Amino acid sequence: MLAALRAAQCRRAQCSLQRFATSRRHLHPSVSLRHGNVTRPSPGTGIKIHFRDAKGDLVKTVEANEGDDLLSIAHEYDIDLEGACEGSVACSTCHVILPPEYYDLLPEPDDDENDMLDMAFGLTDTSRLGCQVKLTRELDGMTATLPAATRNMFVDGKKPTHH
Ligand code: FES
Repeated sequence: MLAALRAAQCRRAQCSLQRFATSRRHLHPSVSLRHGNVTRPSPGTGIKIHFRDAKGDLVKTVEANEGDDLLSIAHEYDIDLEGACEGSVACSTCHVILPPEYYDLLPEPDDDENDMLDMAFGLTDTSRLGCQVKLTRELDGMTATLPAATRNMFVDGKKPTHH
């Protein structure tokens, strides 16, 4: 009796798993807003980030989701932030300068990031690598300033292609 009950439970569990696996095949992620590695939030719902050039002129204000990094966002919105090593912390071409009040909200850069920042053109006290800055809601309204130039130490000045 107990064995029969267990067998029935196993069959139900297996059946549920099969249904789940089958239904997953029919799920489609929303691709309409997808352009690169990140998904654009619906207008008015995302974390607002202002990108400015070295002169302080606004390049673009964009919206992003929690967990997105500044480099991916810049690429998503065609902002000229290079990112030669594509986020592997082997260059400094994704260098951005942040306002002190937002810089202080971020976790400290690790040693690898600091090593690359040391090679960044126009390093400041509030410089970060854009690929290492992950967005949180408290960063809403932050400005990321693009430096006047970048120094590409990564494989012969390789430029990444957008995905
Ligand atoms: S893209 Fe190279 S360190 Fe960020």
